[in-house]
Order: sequence, then C-alpha cells, then structure tokens
Amino acid sequence: MESVDLSQTEKELIRESWATVNQDPQHHGIVLFTRLFDLEPDLVKLFQYNSTQFCSAEDCLASPDFLQHVRKVMLVIDTAVNTLENLPSLQEYLIGLGKKHQAIGVKTESFITVGESLLYALDKGLGPAFSTHSREAWTKLYSGLVKTMSCGWQEGKEGE
Ligand code: HEM
Repeated sequence: MESVDLSQTEKELIRESWATVNQDPQHHGIVLFTRLFDLEPDLVKLFQYNSTQFCSAEDCLASPDFLQHVRKVMLVIDTAVNTLENLPSLQEYLIGLGKKHQAIGVKTESFITVGESLLYALDKGLGPAFSTHSREAWTKLYSGLVKTMSCGWQEGKEGE
C-alpha cells in the first residue's frame, strides 16, 4: 500500500483505539458486518460456502465459515495497524486481495462501505473515547487500504 501521510499523534491514536477494539475482534467484527449488511444487504449473496447462499444476514452472521471471514478482515486491519511505519510493505498483498475480491464479484464501492462500517464499529466500541481526531486518522488509514485494494481490483478486471 502506498505510504499514508499520518502524523506520529495520528499513529498513536490508531494504535490506542485498536488495542481496545482488538481485545474482542469477533464481537467488533460482527458489529462491523451487521452494519455493512444493513447498508448493503445484497453483499450477503456473495458469501457462499459449499455453493450455498445464506437466506438472510442473520444466517450469514451466525455461520462459522463466515465468522472466519470476519476474522480475516480484522486480521488485515490488525496487520495494517502493526505496520504503520512501513505500509508500502503491504502493497503486494493488498493488490492480490483486491484482485481476489474482484473475482468474487465485490464492487469497489463496497470496500468504501466497509470503511464506513468500520468507523461505525469503532464508534460503538469506543464511545466518547473515539475522538474526531482519531476518526480522521482511521479514515486516512482505511482510505489508503481501499485505494490499494481497488488498484488490484482494476488489474483483475483488466485481466478478464
Ligand atoms: C466488501 C465486502 C466483502 C465481501 C462481500 C467479501 C467477500 C469475501 C469472500 C466471499 C471471500 C472468500 C471466502 C472466504 O475466505 O471466507 C473473501 C476472502 C477474503 N476476504 Fe473478503 N470480502 C469483503 C471485504 C473484505 C475486506 C475489506 C477485507 C480486508 C480488509 C477482506 C479480507 C479477506 C481475506 C483476507 C480473504 C481471504 C483471501 C484468501 O483466501 O487469500 N475482505 N472475501
């Protein structure tokens, strides 16, 4: 991922807030995806394990296979938070991840909705401790992540 212009204070805000949320990644990940499915209900259809579609967001959110995806998303964010000093080292991985999601049928706009849902989950998890400054820092970090995944998405599209 390209370098993101974060000040030392912003990096600290991100690390601090993530340390709290990451104490229970499954819970906060479920809050994130519940919000995502409220905003974009059609995304549920893209999660198919053993070629079976879920009947509802509730079914999807209760599935152990899907919960592995929640874990994967939280791990990617955790990796980014632990790599704030060298975000370009994640470039290749995120390009590959963008390509993979293009093949699955995810649209780049949905990556942006995941970002909004992440802010929602942080807000719910941290309450008043989630300051405007912290929110801005997270927006910068997540935007960088989406930008790189979207480059990979575009490469996947062009390779079709
Ligand atoms: C926009 C909504 C998204 C949808 C609908 C979606 C859907 C999927 C699906 C269907 C898979 C394959 C099955 C699985 O591994 O469970 C997958 C894999 C994965 N997703 Fe997502 N995803 C989304 C967003 C994201 C985001 C934002 C991240 C990371 C920040 C992410 C990280 C991953 C990872 C790490 C894998 C495993 C890739 C691998 O096997 O190498 N996903 N996703």
